[in-house]
Amino acid sequence: MGRYDALLALFPLLPPIVLLFQLMEHPSDTLQRWYTHFWLSQDASGGKNAVEETPTVATQLLAYILIAIVGYLLTTLMVPSIQVYTLRKGICGKDLGKRGTLQGEQPLPEALGIVPGAVFLVCLLFCLVGFAATYPSRMLDVNAALLSICFMLFLGFTDDVLDWPWRYKLVLPSVASLPLLCSYKGSTSVVVPLQLRSLLWKDGHMTAFGDFLGSFVIVDAQATGALINLGYFYLLYMGLLAVFCTNAINIFAGINGLEAGQSYVIACAVLLHNLMEIQRDGPADNHLFSVMLMLCFIGVTLGLLRHNWYPATVFVGDTFCYFAGMTFAVVGILGHFSKTLLLLFIPQVINFLWSTPQLFKLVPCPRHRLPRYDPTKQLMYPSTFPCESHQYTWLKALQGIPSNAQELPNMTVINLCLQVCGPLSEVQLCRLLLLLQCLCCGFGFLCRYCLAKYIFDE
Ligand code: UD1
Ligand code: MG
Repeated sequence: MGRYDALLALFPLLPPIVLLFQLMEHPSDTLQRWYTHFWLSQDASGGKNAVEETPTVATQLLAYILIAIVGYLLTTLMVPSIQVYTLRKGICGKDLGKRGTLQGEQPLPEALGIVPGAVFLVCLLFCLVGFAATYPSRMLDVNAALLSICFMLFLGFTDDVLDWPWRYKLVLPSVASLPLLCSYKGSTSVVVPLQLRSLLWKDGHMTAFGDFLGSFVIVDAQATGALINLGYFYLLYMGLLAVFCTNAINIFAGINGLEAGQSYVIACAVLLHNLMEIQRDGPADNHLFSVMLMLCFIGVTLGLLRHNWYPATVFVGDTFCYFAGMTFAVVGILGHFSKTLLLLFIPQVINFLWSTPQLFKLVPCPRHRLPRYDPTKQLMYPSTFPCESHQYTWLKALQGIPSNAQELPNMTVINLCLQVCGPLSEVQLCRLLLLLQCLCCGFGFLCRYCLAKYIFDE
């Protein structure tokens, strides 16, 4: 990664860093308190702490930041060592974005997401020491969350080694989310938008539609139609959220740096959201837990991105996509901000919706849909799939393509960008898509903090 791209990479991290420093007020004082707490409170025999003190929010935040920095350094250092082993075992792939060049012929190590995944878990174990001291009652769901992430990391790695068919890829995340769902004890209610409440409650009574809905779920009469308890449907929704987050990242992929880059931008946005909530309402355990996960995640993902950025020396593999997706699903579910999380996944949602005809085989779906590289011009063009001149006229009309065309662009946001902006180099395309991710996250924040007032009265 060049100096220019490294500077660009720090841009999404700036807003959460500013907020972190505001929350810690005086980092040097915090460091001093931290030093006192951990070292000077040990008695002479080196045994138990003389002073039993609950760590403050600032102390915890500082500890998480330091652990995240260690995570970044460990990942950066370990990826080059581990890639030798994956290559030796034949876990590798050719860079399809450089087909026709010498670089495109070299096998690149695959599944290197296993390194940030493993480092992330080790970092979290250290973070949990502090978290457990402050919030002992939350340890059951925190451990279940860790189990789900661990499970998904393992399943992702098996996918890279065994190359599961698509139908299995859809099921794997729902299996991995089971520990989380089984131990979930949070609310299963959702807030009904202001504009729809009159459908459920009118003139002090439940409407006929409210009664009908009440046969499936619990419409809270005391909240006068503002709350619906979805019960088991909420658990189903959380399982589907895990399936969506993991697969959405995996199918918005195929160019160097995009999988790790989008996850990094989303993680920065999630972190910013949690810090804003902590600043507004005080340190709630769900947001602190999410901050802890996101800081570690950002550290290890940045470490991986250095090696996966154009020209990539390693591929992150499905291991990373699944691990990242599950981590987001876990923080969204345990942090009780799954709707906000979806607002930060706008490019992935659009990519998923636009891909559905290919994913559900209404339209042919080639094994790889990443853009086509032209080695003579060194630019990327939308990749296509062949069709008969009379087929898919609706799709051709939708995209303004002549109705007798014998090929159609693959239905991904990556290809859409190339169709709109014209051919681009791989690195330009990746920068553009990550900029789009940043803008969409900004838009998500706008919806969350401005429009939510008018929709949910929050
Ligand atoms: C998903 C996409 C597929 C896309 C692939 C790329 C769907 C339904 N599937 O499949 O269209 O082509 O991800 O990740 O949308 N690769 C590169 N450059 C990169 C990253 C990957 O050339 O920067 C290639 C390498 O050959 C690598 C392979 O993609 O070995 C990895 O593909 P894999 O993750 O197994 O594909 P899927 O997740 O099944
Ligand atoms: Mg993949």
